[in-house]
Amino acid sequence: MKRKRSDIKEATLLAHVGRDPAANFGIINPPVYHASTVLFPNVAAIEESNKDPYSGVRYGRYGTPTTFAFEEAVAALDGGARGIQVSSGQAAITVGLLAFLKGGDHLLMTDTAYQPTRRFCDHFLSRFGVETTYYDPTIGTGIAKLIRPNTKVVYLESPGSLTFEVQDVPAIAAVARKHGAKVLLDNTWASGLYFKPFQHGADVAIYAATKYIVGHSDAMLGMITMGSVDDFKAIKSSASTLGNSAGPDDCYLGLRGLRTIGVRMRQHQENGLVLARWLQGRPEVAAVRHPALPNDAGHTIWKRDFTGASGLFGVVLQPYAKASVDAFLDSLELFGMGFSWGGFESLIIPFALNGQRTATSDKEPGPMLRIHAGLEDPDDLIKDLERGFAKLKK
Ligand SMILES: Cc1ncc(COP(=O)(O)O)c(C=O)c1O
Repeated sequence: MKRKRSDIKEATLLAHVGRDPAANFGIINPPVYHASTVLFPNVAAIEESNKDPYSGVRYGRYGTPTTFAFEEAVAALDGGARGIQVSSGQAAITVGLLAFLKGGDHLLMTDTAYQPTRRFCDHFLSRFGVETTYYDPTIGTGIAKLIRPNTKVVYLESPGSLTFEVQDVPAIAAVARKHGAKVLLDNTWASGLYFKPFQHGADVAIYAATKYIVGHSDAMLGMITMGSVDDFKAIKSSASTLGNSAGPDDCYLGLRGLRTIGVRMRQHQENGLVLARWLQGRPEVAAVRHPALPNDAGHTIWKRDFTGASGLFGVVLQPYAKASVDAFLDSLELFGMGFSWGGFESLIIPFALNGQRTATSDKEPGPMLRIHAGLEDPDDLIKDLERGFAKLKK
C-alpha cells in the first residue's frame, strides 16, 4: 500500500492493506505460498537469517508472504504494531497466555471468559504452577484489590461469552499496567473493527479469526496482535516453540474475509438489532442481552468505547420446560444450531452456565439462548422465530 495509513479511512484500508500487485505480476491478491523448506543461497544468508529468526521468510512454520500479508492486515485494522497468525482462536488464547506466564505466576481471568479458556487455566496452567483467580467482569478499578506481586497477566473478554457483560477495559488496563501485569483481551466479538484494543489500554488482542474475520464458516484460524515489538517477540517465540502456525490457505481465507468485514459487520449489526428489539417485545422473552440496547447493563461503557456491535447476543426466555424449548429450537428452519458464530448464516444455540462462573452467579434466570444474526433478510428470520414460538408451551 503506497498511501500512509493515517491518510486513509478504514474502508479504504481494508481494500488495500496486505497486498502488493506490482510485486506480483499485477495480480490483485497475494499468492498462496505452500512451503516448509526455504532454500538459502549461501551460508552467509543462513547466518544472517539466524540473527533474527522472527523476520523474513526462513521456514514454513515461521510464516510465508501469505501469512505475513494476513498478519499485516489484521494489525492495521486494530491498530497493533504486529500480528501473529495461529491455527485457531483457542490457539491464540493459549499461545498468548503461555508467552507471559511461568510456574509461580498468578493470572487474573475474567469470570465470563470463553469456556475453553477457563478449561486451559483450570486443567493445564494449574499443572505448571500458574494460579488463576477469576474476577467479576464488571469489577473496573476494583481489580486493584485482586492484584498480587506475582500477577503477570490480567485477561479480559468483552463482551463476555454467553452473558455479554461489557468490561471497563481502560480502567482495568490502567491498574494492571501500573502493577506491571500484561493486559490480554479477547476482542473476537468486535473483531478489531468496532473496538480498538490498543487505544483502550490492552497490550495484546486475541481473535478467533474463525468468526467474523474469515466470516464464511469455512476455516479455523486465530490471530494475536500486539502494541509493542517486545511483546511480538515474546509471543512469536511462544507460537514457534509450541509449533503453532496456520496453513497458508486459511490465512488466504482470513485475508479475503477482511476485505468485506466492514460491510458484513454493518449488516450483522443491523440484523442483530432488528432481532434483539423484536425479541424484547415478545411475551416469551424475559430479557435480551445486547450491549447496543439502551437498557442493557453494559450499554454506557459500550457506547463510550465501541463504535458498533456485532450480530451475537443473548436471550433469556420465560421459564418454559426444556421439552418445550427443544421443540421451539427443533422447529426453526432458517436458524442453524451449531457452535461458533461470525459466518454469513444465522445460528441459535441453547446453553447452560452450570459451573462456568465462579466469581459471579451461575444461577440461570430462565432457559438461555445465544443468537447469531446472519446476513439473511431479518423479516424472514423473524417469521422463523415467530413460527418457532408457537411451539413454546408453559
Ligand atoms: C470469544 C471466543 N474466543 C475464542 C474462541 C475460540 O476460537 P476457535 O473456535 O477458532 O478456536 C471462541 C470460539 O467460539 C470464542 O467464542
